[in-house]
Amino acid sequence: MHTNQSLEHRRDTAVAKAIAYSATFVAARAENAEVWDVEGNRYIDFCGGIGCQNIGHRHPLVVKAIKDQLDTLTHTCFQVTPYESYISLAERLNAVYPGDFQKKSMFFSAGGEAVENAIKIARYYTKRPALITFTNGYHGRSYMGMALSARMVPFKQGFGPFPADVFRLPFPDDFHGVSLEDTKRAFELLFRSDCAPDQIAAIFFEPVQGEGGYNIATKEFIEYLRMLCDEHGIILVADEIQSGMGRTGKMFAMEHFGIDPDLTCVGKSIGGGLPISGIVGKADIIDNIPPGGLGGTFGGNPMACAAALAVMDAFESENLLQKGLEMGELIDQYLNKMATRNSFDCIGDVRGLGCMNAIELVKDKETREPDGELAAKVAQIALKNGLILVTAGPTRNVIRLLVPLTASKEVVTEGLNILEASLEEAC
Ligand SMILES: Cc1ncc(COP(=O)(O)O)c(C=O)c1O
Repeated sequence: MHTNQSLEHRRDTAVAKAIAYSATFVAARAENAEVWDVEGNRYIDFCGGIGCQNIGHRHPLVVKAIKDQLDTLTHTCFQVTPYESYISLAERLNAVYPGDFQKKSMFFSAGGEAVENAIKIARYYTKRPALITFTNGYHGRSYMGMALSARMVPFKQGFGPFPADVFRLPFPDDFHGVSLEDTKRAFELLFRSDCAPDQIAAIFFEPVQGEGGYNIATKEFIEYLRMLCDEHGIILVADEIQSGMGRTGKMFAMEHFGIDPDLTCVGKSIGGGLPISGIVGKADIIDNIPPGGLGGTFGGNPMACAAALAVMDAFESENLLQKGLEMGELIDQYLNKMATRNSFDCIGDVRGLGCMNAIELVKDKETREPDGELAAKVAQIALKNGLILVTAGPTRNVIRLLVPLTASKEVVTEGLNILEASLEEAC
């Protein structure tokens, strides 16, 4: 029988060091919001493979769809020999995508590929080079992804030079002292000194920043971006790879704000555990690119499309958006109650949108100095106590909760109790 320790040794010998890991155990099986390691120990999973299990591990509809697909077709490459499930998935995604215009979709494998292709579409359509991105934004690890992303260590350091024509502006964020006025001034300065608006192809932003620490955009900020894009013919791209597919209690986080982007990148949870990402958005922008201009061997692979269609079915048949809103409320209430306890002076902020929740840990409530060390300690203790957590934020002082919308209230409450006990122990 394998043990965690023997596998750890084999992993260290055989797997590249750059592939980091946070868990001290090796997973053997998983079900909904729970994971078991190779020694039979159980963990509650508040991470879901970093936001890929919005409908839980091995949802029965997803498992059945994959098994059925396996019996008929595993891969042909859609661009050589198309299949119905890809078309069906595009239809389903277009149908749930908000906005009063014709929509089109296309599929890839990793989230980062969706971002790359959104850049291609925006540059081709506008015939312009420049891209706008924001502080604390994260958009993947490819070269364009790194250029758009804000985290230097360990994602970017040593990998330069990075692509040109990318400009980073402040993401308005009250808790960290950045106002919308600061952002507006930065745009004005950019236009005046470095890049005229008629040179900008696209603005990339996350409605809720994931890696960057669950910073939630305001309606006023998104309205401002929409206004800028309309005025200057810039493409507005919402990266919903982490915030989408029901995570916030709406299919797309942008629905909370009632503003339509031009293109949206999706990934992670759309595949119910299988690798698939995509772009959905305005047909007249997407269809500017002639046949053959975009694609890839595995994009929208039949197994992944089958799984993604099952994810869509689960959202409809199990009323998961509503469940997500209710679960988010339960988590938010619990976290807010925790934050009022005197012994938890270290909780600087509790925030969330729907079921995308976080606590930010600080050394001092007044100065809001981040405490990444404490967050790492909490995650480590939680793991020992049977709860998988993942941190976020530029100094990793934010604990983000990515609870499956399908989890039972009992399991979620058990997980929250472990979080509270771990925080108590770490403090
Ligand atoms: C908002 C956002 N965009 C892009 C990506 C990159 O996706 P992937 O790791 O699947 O390439 C991520 C991954 O965490 C993400 O959260």
